[in-house]
Amino acid sequence: MTTFIKNGTVVSATGRHSTDVLVDGTVIAALLQPGSSTAISAESGADRVIDASGKYVVPGGVDCHTHMELPFGGTFASDTFESGTRAAAWGGTTTIVDFAVQKTGENVRDSLEAWHAKAEGQCAVDYAFHMVLGGIDDAALKEMDALVAEGITSFKLFMAYPGVFYSDDGQILRAMQMAANNGALISMHAENGIAIDVLAEQAAARGQTDPVYHGITRPARLEGEATNRAIQLALVAGAPVYFVHLSASEALERVAEARDEGHNVFAETCPQYLYLNLEDHLGAPGFGGAGYVCSAPLRTKEHTHQKDLWRGLRTNDLAVVATDHCPFCMKDQKELGRDDFRAIPNGIGGVEHRMDLIYQGVVMGELSLERWVETCSTTPARMFGMYPQKGVIAPGSDADIVLYDPNAKTEISVDTHHMNMDYSAYEGFSIDGKVDTVISKGRVLIEEDEYLGVKGHGVYLPRGLSSYLQ
Ligand code: URP
Ligand code: ZN
Ligand code: ZN
Repeated sequence: MTTFIKNGTVVSATGRHSTDVLVDGTVIAALLQPGSSTAISAESGADRVIDASGKYVVPGGVDCHTHMELPFGGTFASDTFESGTRAAAWGGTTTIVDFAVQKTGENVRDSLEAWHAKAEGQCAVDYAFHMVLGGIDDAALKEMDALVAEGITSFKLFMAYPGVFYSDDGQILRAMQMAANNGALISMHAENGIAIDVLAEQAAARGQTDPVYHGITRPARLEGEATNRAIQLALVAGAPVYFVHLSASEALERVAEARDEGHNVFAETCPQYLYLNLEDHLGAPGFGGAGYVCSAPLRTKEHTHQKDLWRGLRTNDLAVVATDHCPFCMKDQKELGRDDFRAIPNGIGGVEHRMDLIYQGVVMGELSLERWVETCSTTPARMFGMYPQKGVIAPGSDADIVLYDPNAKTEISVDTHHMNMDYSAYEGFSIDGKVDTVISKGRVLIEEDEYLGVKGHGVYLPRGLSSYLQ
């Protein structure tokens, strides 16, 4: 089956060109000069022709931070691999990297097998795994080399959530030393969880139990402190480090300093930190703020966090935009913490909206079109060892292609989204632009507002080492 995509503007991380694209089976076969004899003959021989006039033709989105069915706070993230990857497809994301989770005391292999069992045969788009190491012990350290060899080339460690996922500095240093030898990338949740637990307990004892206290007891300073500590540990170990869900200027400053000194320090941010804030969202009246409880938390609008994060995306101190998609419904899930913010499951769903929300950065003049593609597709693929199979429209790459219509308008709402959530954190947001057509490995998944995918089309992707470390 061949598909010829004509009249579009192909956008890559480095430029934009009027180029026709020939897809053969599951891969991109050629990029052709419009009107050239090769393009004319490719079009006439194609099984299917897609007219992309007026549209951007971009590599499918790569969301390197999702949590399908994550067990958290006595419940499970509400998207399964089936519903979550279908929602991803609707939003132009054709690859996810989810976190297989080993909690403190659990066996790493058993935890990974459980994740494979949840995902296999369920996914609309391709998927890979990072491994969460919760409370690193000797057995977990021993497994790291084997996991890297079989395609799990990044490990998330937590400086937050004592007793659940938390690792102390010695445990982190040991894991980083392993990574320095085996080429893995350590991803870090950088918040000082020990200090946060003290502040949270004190707030609850004062009767301050509303959702907004989730944010107030997780000050930006404690993200900055943990970020600095993790960088120092990484430098001592000689390992690279990648900060997930960076939310605060204080953390970004530490990352920028380390990068200016030439160290392999990388970071991602997420749409929620670019658009939502502590006062208006986490501090919404009644229990509404529970829908915005996530960690790191939304930051105050009194500070320049959001402005700084957009700047970081431009300067590459923030290399990636991921969603940290971790959806919970208000009913029966967020409600678990109605009397105490500490019992609200942490997480916001957004896998469906990342491409649209970050495209608004282009509309607002914060990012170039190329930088949109780079932060949402190309760099995550390179960072996590999936490039050039993913993240680029080039001969030989998987035919994961999104036609994006810059002239259409949409609105985000719980009434129209496809994630398994009973609210939307971005309710009422107007989007300039629209994901028009989504192709995964040559198969059209979304066309004319219809889902044409099937579960099981997406398969597990073993990953290589990060392109940035070789
Ligand atoms: O609130 C969040 N981010 N929930 C998911 C777990 C994590 O720390 O990424
Ligand atoms: Zn985290
Ligand atoms: Zn996460």
